[in-house]
Amino acid sequence: MSEAIIEKVRQFAESHFADDGSGHDWWHVHRVWNTAKHLADAEGADRTIVEIAALLHDVADWKLNEDETQGLNTIRDLLAGDLPPETVDRICDIISKVSFKGAGVDTPTESLEGQVVQDADRLDALGAVGIARTFAYGGNRGRLIHHPDQPPQQHDSFEAYKKNKGPSTNHFYEKLLLLKDRMNTATARKMAEQRHRFMEQYLDHFFKEWNGEL
Ligand code: ADP
Ligand code: NI
Repeated sequence: MSEAIIEKVRQFAESHFADDGSGHDWWHVHRVWNTAKHLADAEGADRTIVEIAALLHDVADWKLNEDETQGLNTIRDLLAGDLPPETVDRICDIISKVSFKGAGVDTPTESLEGQVVQDADRLDALGAVGIARTFAYGGNRGRLIHHPDQPPQQHDSFEAYKKNKGPSTNHFYEKLLLLKDRMNTATARKMAEQRHRFMEQYLDHFFKEWNGEL
């Protein structure tokens, strides 16, 4: 029963995200789905809820949509015939809380399933893949790679974080390097360590090249 629903949701997600050029394409969703399955098993979370929420986690994302409510309605319509209303509510609740909203903005996720999906999404922002996604996003939005006179900021409101149009290198200091200490689960925290170290090495190299030291 749940296999058929997951397959239906997978097909929806694959076509919904097919053409994205901002690092939020189907393969991002696919990686988050896989990581979320692994975390769910390691942490003892409900697999069906986690898988469906992971597959749909970016459908209502503020960066990709003008209106979050519209995305949540799309999800409700997709799931309504297949799952009880309480389950659909749980999934929508996870999806509405998944996103990072600024260094100084708390984004709590109460359920274990929500914690797992948020961790899986955040792990895909780290490491070699995370670096590729960051510059893909910056290019997609017309941002500079780096600007020495535009230092990173620690946004303490979602509004300020949303308005920010700084160079892509700032994103490492405004979000990516903070994620290691903000993972919800022990399994994800461990996975984040290596990816974090790799980003530090990358940035070290980047700035040495920028300054003509390498
Ligand atoms: P979240 O919900 O935590 O924002 P997403 O799956 O929506 O996670 O993807 C966020 C990714 O999009 C970031 O990790 C980064 O790769 C990219 N991104 C978002 N904002 C920026 C930005 N201002 N500059 C560069 N990349 C960004
Ligand atoms: Ni995502």
